[in-house]
Amino acid sequence: MKHQLCLILNFGGQYNQLIARRVRECGVYCEIISRKTPIAKIRELNPSGIIFTGGPNSVYAENAPKIDKEIFELGIPVLGICYGCQLMAQTLGGTVSTADMREYGKTQTCYDTKSLLFKGLDSENISWMSHTDYISKLPEGFKSIAHSDSCPAAAIENADKKLYGIQFHPEVNHTVNGIKMLRNFLYNVCGFTGDWSMENYVNTAIADIRAKVGDKKVLLALSGGVDSSVAAALLSKAVGKQVTSIFVDHGLLRKNEGDEVEKAFAGWDINFVRVDASKRFMEKLKGVTDPEKKRKIIGSEFIDVFEAEAKKIGAVDYLVQGTIYPDVIESGDDDEAAVIKSHHNVGGLPDHVDFKEIIEPLRLLFKDEVRALGVELGLPKELVSRQPFPGPGLAIRIIGDIDENKVSILQDADYIFREEIANAGLNNDIHQYFAVLTNTRTVGVMGDARTYDYVLALRGVTTTDFMTADFARIPYDVLEKISARIINEVKNVNRVVYDITTKPPASIEWE
Ligand code: XMP
Repeated sequence: MKHQLCLILNFGGQYNQLIARRVRECGVYCEIISRKTPIAKIRELNPSGIIFTGGPNSVYAENAPKIDKEIFELGIPVLGICYGCQLMAQTLGGTVSTADMREYGKTQTCYDTKSLLFKGLDSENISWMSHTDYISKLPEGFKSIAHSDSCPAAAIENADKKLYGIQFHPEVNHTVNGIKMLRNFLYNVCGFTGDWSMENYVNTAIADIRAKVGDKKVLLALSGGVDSSVAAALLSKAVGKQVTSIFVDHGLLRKNEGDEVEKAFAGWDINFVRVDASKRFMEKLKGVTDPEKKRKIIGSEFIDVFEAEAKKIGAVDYLVQGTIYPDVIESGDDDEAAVIKSHHNVGGLPDHVDFKEIIEPLRLLFKDEVRALGVELGLPKELVSRQPFPGPGLAIRIIGDIDENKVSILQDADYIFREEIANAGLNNDIHQYFAVLTNTRTVGVMGDARTYDYVLALRGVTTTDFMTADFARIPYDVLEKISARIINEVKNVNRVVYDITTKPPASIEWE
């Protein structure tokens, strides 16, 4: 292991990924693993610290996840959070009881700042609680180091054994100084040095790829999205011209996007192949109105084009996949690794490309780390900070059938929308925003003439996981400016509407 490691044992809590992200933000490399991981395996991994996550159960519930007591005897510091805290207390001989009332939300909490966990922090502040059970009797050797009105042991410690428990959630922003508490645990209790940064990671990642790939050939499908672009950049730095990246331009990208991707890789040590397949895609999509059919056609067409190009190169040894860490995190409660994937990617894996092995250079990274890595590698900021863009592209943002004229209308309108959001300084506050060309035409007046043109819809959402979303509260004056510019500058649009639906019930995309 080239980095010090913090292991996060997954008990199925809703904030598990957040804990991992926070730990990494503290400059410490961590991995989320199943709570069922055998002690021998944990020993072998040689972590410098262990965190137990929260979980949905009560420690008394039938089938409540347990932990082998031996884990507390390894001499490795442990921090239990919420369920993890109660489990630690119960396993070590304390008592966990059910309170009459659930303690939930922002809670005034007092901290013992003599404890290493709270060293240098306020002695009283807000924490985020979400529990019904509480520790009514401490295990031997432990003392309470925090309390709230209704929770006598909001945090516990056995400083000699470096065992700590927190009833509340330090990983959630509502807990004032929560990150500092995690940092205290990592640095002051476990002795982490903070050796996880993208700057350091680049070198180890490059060395790993070189060791694995040797002098073999690598093939990569570049979509222009963040993940595949960063993967391409990393591979280029590692093994240069051994990599061929095939960028299938289906003609349904945002305005100028194809050229931007090409420009971003100009001068990189890589075989960059851009295939302009827009005519072919447009042919296949002619007259197709059903959203799922559009997706299928684009997916299979994409693979066909990719495979045809790949054949020109001949057999390759490695095919790159842009899998990132949230896709590989195991779930806490079942035996199988739950693949938490927000959406299907275009095409999936080509079946007929001749390759020996898959290589996943981003599989340990969270999305924000992928972006940071991209910047570190020297990709343009605009490219790595891109909002999500669906694989099928503008095809699912043109309602009904698609033609070149509609693609061009949508590209122009979408460009103005994005430009004005950036001008208003809102691009970091709105997580995804785009224009949709409806297939409805309405009557309007322009000059003295009657018009009968398309309705264009604007969609902007705020979200953390894209599974649920709220519509973005874009100020009226910004919307007004966008609407005026679109009507004036884009032909065939005479009406602009703003989508004010949340997800659910609506999805983010219109198709
Ligand atoms: P929905 O519309 O399902 O979108 O609320 C959630 C997120 O997924 C993206 N999305 C897709 N991404 N292929 C993709 O790669 C698709 O077919 C697809 N459909 C939706 C969408 O842009 C949003 O970020």
